[in-house]
Amino acid sequence: MPNSKEIYILAIESSCDDTSAAVLHNRKMLSNVVATQRIHEEYGGVVPELASRAHQKNIVPLVHQALAKANIDKKLVSAIAFTRGPGLMGSLLVGTSFAKSLSLGLQLPLIEVNHMEAHILAHFIEEPGKTPPSFPFLALTISGGHTQIVLVRDYFQMEVLGETLDDAVGEAFDKSAKLMGLPYPGGPLIDQYAKDGDPEKFPFPIPKVDGLNFSFSGLKTSILYFLQRESQRDPDFVTRERNHICASIQHTIVRILMEKLTLASAQTGIKEIAVGGGVSANSGIREALRNAENELGWKVHIPKLEYCTDNAGMIGIVGYLKYLQGRFTDLGVTALARYSINSGN
Ligand code: KG4
Ligand code: ZN
Repeated sequence: MPNSKEIYILAIESSCDDTSAAVLHNRKMLSNVVATQRIHEEYGGVVPELASRAHQKNIVPLVHQALAKANIDKKLVSAIAFTRGPGLMGSLLVGTSFAKSLSLGLQLPLIEVNHMEAHILAHFIEEPGKTPPSFPFLALTISGGHTQIVLVRDYFQMEVLGETLDDAVGEAFDKSAKLMGLPYPGGPLIDQYAKDGDPEKFPFPIPKVDGLNFSFSGLKTSILYFLQRESQRDPDFVTRERNHICASIQHTIVRILMEKLTLASAQTGIKEIAVGGGVSANSGIREALRNAENELGWKVHIPKLEYCTDNAGMIGIVGYLKYLQGRFTDLGVTALARYSINSGN
């Protein structure tokens, strides 16, 4: 086995609709290959059965690609890390079974990873010119599947302070876009059209949710009724007002996120903020975070987009950190569709 200074982790991610494999040398990414499943675009959302079939097809070639790109032989690998959950059961089963077989075949230690912890710990992947957040910090994870504010005291001492009670923020973007007749995933399009719109033109209600939890389903309903009402009066309404509608939707979503994050910061006294997940690409949220740096004295960290969206690199960094602590799992490990932060080994 390689010594503790030279750790190579082979990591596998398959929790939703991206199959990914990565190789890390300590904290450094040697390769991080992702196959995004385009098939779901035709259906306007992820179809679980199609996702597991695509993972099945992709996983072997991706692992080969990750090893080839990293230019290392599989004999050098120190351990195999994989996403145990949370996610779609059929998708998780593909990665879990594959990782277990590989561990058995190559006689390598196995490390199970919580996908939500991985989104947060992605900040610790080595990046030139970037310093990782210092403990304690607040992590905001925003994507098509997640919306969470987590208090991070240490690598594996995390506390979920708030999360969505219904739709994830990315879903709120995508479903709003769908109501406007835009293709899936509509989040990036809303962002693009919002740039030329007036964010105050159509005010949508901010949901009243106690504490640090989120809710986005009410917003979706009010957008639906608004679009139906206006389109009855004027069938060209959505086409004509597209940019203003997008700007107003984005403005509302950003306000919801920022209100809760500001409350979390005020309650904990923490100004070190780490943001991850695909929605962190949104220009409205980025601008709001920049303003908070200037006005509230926050220090905001956003990893490069490759490490924000679902990828095996973030699974690999958790693998490395667990390897250092000797936190391995056995072949009896099973996938978990629901898997809360801090509950694994
Ligand atoms: O992290 P991610 O790639 O996949 C998971 O959901 O796990 O996030 C995808 C989500 C989609 O809902 C997509 O619409 C949203 O992130 N998204 C955006 C933007 N870029 C991606 N939403 C708003 N503005 C963007 N620029
Ligand atoms: Zn994710």
